[in-house]
Amino acid sequence: MCGIVGYIGRREAAPLLLESLRKLEYRGYDSAGIAVLNSGKVAIRRCEGKLGNLEEILARSSLPGTIGIGHTRWATHGRPSETNAHPHRAGDIVVVHNGIIENYLELKEQLSRLGSRFESETDTEIVAHLVDAKLSNGADFLTAVRHSLKEIQGSYALVFLNQRDPERLIVAKNSTPIVVGWGEGETFIASDIPALLDYTRKVTFLEDGEVGEVTAKGLRVLNGKGKAVQRAVKEITGDAVAAQKGGYRHFMLKEIHEQPRALTDTFRGRISLKEGDVSLEGVPLARIHVVACGTAWHAALVGKFMLEEIAGIPAEVDYGSEFRYRSPLIDSRSLLLPISQSGETADTLAAVELGRKRKAKVVSICNVVDSSLARKSDGVFYTRAGPEISVASTKAFSTQLAALYLFAIGLGRLTGRLQRSEAKRLTEDLLCLPHQVEEALKLEGDLEALSRELSSATDFLYLGRGINYPIALEGALKLKEISYIHAEGYPAGEMKHGPIALIDERMPVVVLLPKDRYFQKTLGNLKEVESRGGKVIAVTDQADGAIDAAAYRVLTVPRASYFLTPIVLAIPLQLLADEIAVHRGTDVDQPRNLAKSVTVE
Ligand code: F6R
Repeated sequence: MCGIVGYIGRREAAPLLLESLRKLEYRGYDSAGIAVLNSGKVAIRRCEGKLGNLEEILARSSLPGTIGIGHTRWATHGRPSETNAHPHRAGDIVVVHNGIIENYLELKEQLSRLGSRFESETDTEIVAHLVDAKLSNGADFLTAVRHSLKEIQGSYALVFLNQRDPERLIVAKNSTPIVVGWGEGETFIASDIPALLDYTRKVTFLEDGEVGEVTAKGLRVLNGKGKAVQRAVKEITGDAVAAQKGGYRHFMLKEIHEQPRALTDTFRGRISLKEGDVSLEGVPLARIHVVACGTAWHAALVGKFMLEEIAGIPAEVDYGSEFRYRSPLIDSRSLLLPISQSGETADTLAAVELGRKRKAKVVSICNVVDSSLARKSDGVFYTRAGPEISVASTKAFSTQLAALYLFAIGLGRLTGRLQRSEAKRLTEDLLCLPHQVEEALKLEGDLEALSRELSSATDFLYLGRGINYPIALEGALKLKEISYIHAEGYPAGEMKHGPIALIDERMPVVVLLPKDRYFQKTLGNLKEVESRGGKVIAVTDQADGAIDAAAYRVLTVPRASYFLTPIVLAIPLQLLADEIAVHRGTDVDQPRNLAKSVTVE
């Protein structure tokens, strides 16, 4: 995680770096810092906590100079503190880092024996010491960095500033993204494109193992052997991040409300109602492996139902972090289907590497255009959710489900399992979805009082069955990540095998109970909870006296088709989590300990 930036040119670096960091704060907000070189001296300002704190420091004590680097941190090694905040310095070398140096303890010991003294608990500081030691032994800046990288194991995007060299910054990449933006007589560096879009649309992505020499004139790229390589300059199209709350109290709520539009955008232009087709070509059909993390993994679990039932293709679902370390049966007949909002999640990317090694075809479902995942894939099915700023994922989730649905229909047509008329009916169902979501959003007003009442609970259970079981997992995840209340999602049919012991009158239990093929079974589970004193909040799509009789509260959403019901049921769960978090006074958009992009494993 962590966001890193750099600038060299003619403008004042500090305000520009601060502005770019603001676009990367989703990557971490445990601490922030900036270093600027001016008249042969590097000055650093760092602080614990969010960027606002750094901004205040800079307002009191500015940093003049036109070359600098910056960082916003998600702590991996060393607790969040000013001392552990980047940039880190050793002698003339100052560095910012995103990633993990795995052999840092070993290197730290070696360097300590040679006399280095360390201030922080971070893995990053040793990199500054390594490079500085090589400079002191007479190496030039670029060589010192290149030789230091040979000693480092792990993942990194690094930007180095040398107090004795005002003409260049050196960048390096391995398994963690870095992009260089080309300006007129100025050059920009960032972890991610949105941080550059206010300044330039011409960018170059570095590849793993490469080192770049960045001057005000641009970028020179060297491969691992030190040979100059040509890297394309890419023109970024599309809108800059519209990071405005638009009258909502926070981004999460805005993004929840954007779902009707996001869903429409995701299917617009991709379906032919006349033909009932979603076009997909050249995709292997033997077996699908879906890999993802967190909320995207929940989408993958729903996707399994769609891919198997609609397309008739066996689908396995894995966490990226598990897939990468087992020996999945995957080969050139397999389709690897990674799902990721950011396209930068380290474990998902590692799963893709593994899939590629085994010759699988990779088609990803991703929200961020030109992200690392998009660039590593043979094909990308973009969700068109728009920028998702809130750490807790909402509109990315629903659009991932819509994308999976479209994908399953396309595959169903390819396999011949779906008749044209059936595919046409499924695509028509999709057209009704934005309105159904809009109607579900109207529950917001009803949730105020209920959320206030539930906000003092210490534990929640969420129950669902079949295609809606992953929605129970997602509801629980939303609640725990933004309200810090312990919550578990469970398949309703598993209650009797243990969790029912938890039920008492203090336990709110959210039961997903659409009128689907499982209705009677889940209703039975609801009654079992109720008869043990549990406070049932039932979420259904059709009024029913039996639910009213047993539930403490009933939330009714519009009735959608079987495969699209998960999207509609997720809406009140997102709203409930949001309202409860507001009552508990947490930071909804930037919950503690989390970051929007998990770029380390
Ligand atoms: C939860 C959440 C995370 C992400 C996960 C994967 O609200 O946002 O669980 O879903 O970190 O992130 P992406 O989709 O960017 O790969």
